[in-house]
Amino acid sequence: MSKDNENNCIKKIICRCEEITKEEIREAIREGHITIKTIKIRTRAGMGLCQGRTCSTLIRDIISEMTGIKKKDVLPDTIRFPLYPVELNVLGKK
Ligand code: FES
Repeated sequence: MSKDNENNCIKKIICRCEEITKEEIREAIREGHITIKTIKIRTRAGMGLCQGRTCSTLIRDIISEMTGIKKKDVLPDTIRFPLYPVELNVLGKK
């Protein structure tokens, strides 16, 4: 990667919900966080409204790019079932 491209990456937002930049993700990887879960704990990327549905793929790609781990071998975050909104009158019925 050329120096100009690397400088452009510094301000590139990876997690829009938590406003985490690519450089913050790269810094976490340099510190040894090489799973999506540990990067989430370190940076908060993936803790926003979409719960990582948008950014986890990008984070996986960055981990793969920096460490050489194949994308399919990067450990994912804990997968949780989707929750659906429930109206309060449903919960309050007797
Ligand atoms: S984009 Fe990262 S949690 Fe939504």
